[in-house]
Amino acid sequence: MSFQEFPSDESGYEAWLRYPLVEDAGRRAAMASLRCVSCRVDGPCVASALSEWARAMDGFLGETAALLPGGEDEAGVRFAVDTVLQEEGYRLFHDGSLNIVGGSGRGLLYGTCAALRALSLGTDPASLEEESSPAIPLRMLNHWDNPVEDPVMGSIERVWGGKTIFDWTDLSRPNPRYRDYARMLASLGLNGLCINNVNATPEILSPSMLPGLQALAGIFRAWGVRFYLSVDFASPVDLGGLPTADPLDDRVLQWWRDKVAEIYAAIPDFGGFVVKADSEGRPGPGDYGRSHIEGSRCIARALAPFGGTLFWRAFVYGRDISKRTPHERAAQDRANHASYEFMQLDGQFDDNVILQIKRSATDFQIWEPPHALFGKMPRTRLCLEFDLAHEYTGYDVHLAWEGPYLAHVLNFDMAPESGGGRIADIVAGRTGRGLPGAVTAVANTNSARNWFGHLLSGAGLYAHGRLAWDSALTPETISREYAHLLFRKKAAETVASLLDRSYDTCARYMSPYGLGFLYENVHHFDPDPWSNRATAGITEDGLGRDRTQKTGSGYTALFPRGHADIFADPARCPARHLLYFHHLPWHHSMPDERTLIQSIYDGCYAGVEEVRAFRETWRGLHGLIDLERWAHVYEKLALQADHAERWRDLLCRFFLEVSGVPDEHGRFDHSSPSPHARVRSGFGQAVEDYRARVQRMRARIGARRDDGAAYL
Ligand code: GCU
Repeated sequence: MSFQEFPSDESGYEAWLRYPLVEDAGRRAAMASLRCVSCRVDGPCVASALSEWARAMDGFLGETAALLPGGEDEAGVRFAVDTVLQEEGYRLFHDGSLNIVGGSGRGLLYGTCAALRALSLGTDPASLEEESSPAIPLRMLNHWDNPVEDPVMGSIERVWGGKTIFDWTDLSRPNPRYRDYARMLASLGLNGLCINNVNATPEILSPSMLPGLQALAGIFRAWGVRFYLSVDFASPVDLGGLPTADPLDDRVLQWWRDKVAEIYAAIPDFGGFVVKADSEGRPGPGDYGRSHIEGSRCIARALAPFGGTLFWRAFVYGRDISKRTPHERAAQDRANHASYEFMQLDGQFDDNVILQIKRSATDFQIWEPPHALFGKMPRTRLCLEFDLAHEYTGYDVHLAWEGPYLAHVLNFDMAPESGGGRIADIVAGRTGRGLPGAVTAVANTNSARNWFGHLLSGAGLYAHGRLAWDSALTPETISREYAHLLFRKKAAETVASLLDRSYDTCARYMSPYGLGFLYENVHHFDPDPWSNRATAGITEDGLGRDRTQKTGSGYTALFPRGHADIFADPARCPARHLLYFHHLPWHHSMPDERTLIQSIYDGCYAGVEEVRAFRETWRGLHGLIDLERWAHVYEKLALQADHAERWRDLLCRFFLEVSGVPDEHGRFDHSSPSPHARVRSGFGQAVEDYRARVQRMRARIGARRDDGAAYL
């Protein structure tokens, strides 16, 4: 390969908005006229659409490709708005010129981004023909950023790849990253951003924050993204100095009204609040003997006159249920809690309240089944909350692309008999009382130059946005789109197939057969099965949680019949949920006649081999990808292989110790180094271990970073 052919280095900062130079002369000629634009409309989103178009033409056609204003007839591309289309929808068609028509300025922006995506993927402008609009009206991201760095969780809860991208000491200080982030969100059609941790600090509502929030909201507004804030239920006490946050107290109600009015005076299109109440030690209405309805109403009614929305989180599981009915007490399983807490409240929330439900009931475990509560609240607006932060999939070290799982949850049918209850349809408001809801995800965006820490973690955000817009897209389509947008054609298929397999691979050694919570307790990065034996349901006779109705906690029965029967039957239960729903003996016979424990041993070993194979596959991409991005991912995969081994060794040794069942292949035995010595769980230890490992790895392979051959 000649020097010229070697792709030039990229940091990953451009993510999927790279707009690389079009080298093929025929394609360049077909695109040349696209520099000449006509635009009959204006507004902030239209201006953003035009600026993105100009930026893309610069990239595709070369530095000098400035836009030329043109009349209707001579323009190569016409931008227009037609209110016949849905507000956020767009239509692309070619009639000698390319037409980008939006239902509004925002629709036009989305149409522009769709056209640029197609052009980036090599589509001939003359064949662009598409009409599209999103089914789910609110498509959001939740940042878990901490305005003041937390001593345990750091700058962003659950994100280690970098720090918060927001300069919380002065949010109004100009930073080009903000605009570039807004561009990324717009390119995916995401229209809402909640910028701070659900474990909110009351100070987020202090008047001194407002000018900064106002400035930031203005930047994102131009890209169609509305701002939301997470707030602490006890803010009237902590910030307002009131003696109570009781949602029925007039002073509290007035405090929220005043606070909301103050925000809207500065940010007229403010989206609303997200509240985590009565959950994991957070204050909530329960502290005052009030219900979720009363608690949410107090804040929602302050927001309502301004058109604001309240996202009330359903991640509630710690409440004392000892005074409840015997049936509820039997359900002392976290998987059941939110359902028992909320399903009785269906239909009672105010119209501007959206119940925000995690994609799965116990937490963000790898292949947890979709949350049964989605099928239980037909008269309530619902929001589906995903996690892109990799809290339980190895943070920014492991490649575990969640695309297949996101698509699985969105397409999971809560009315399997009629086929009319996909979770995507429920949150879109196409079922039940037809109340439109939302889809959101905990973001992994951070201050790393490539935005995510692990470059390929961007594929998670990409999948979230694409599926939020169109849940019918297949994961394979999305991974290919993403890979082609990031890399040259020759590398893209290989990258896409790595992404496709990566989630299942990670599950093999972190969560075999859906066994959850094998993590060290604070940071959820390293394995520590010893501390979590009970949560994972590991006993001397077997492993897994019995959640069947007959003999266990009964979570299976909260699903509609078709699913409930399958989940409750170990012979039919999907393998990836087997130990989530069943406690099975170590010697349980698997379909291939191996014992369960032997399958787990084998799976852990196979998982590590798969990661090593990923690393070798990536090595083979050397020269097809610029050195900077190639070396970055190679280093991550090398770290992952190292850490996957650690998972394998600890889990296998642990299972051997508890079960007493040796590995048929003799790969380890009781004389293997005691894994206890390697687990030093607790406060901050995992972070330190991780950092030290990164240092060691860097020292080993990073010293020769400038020379890509050193990695081979
Ligand atoms: C998990 C996570 C916490 C987070 C919580 C939530 O428990 O570990 O960091 O605050 O979910 O979603 O509220």
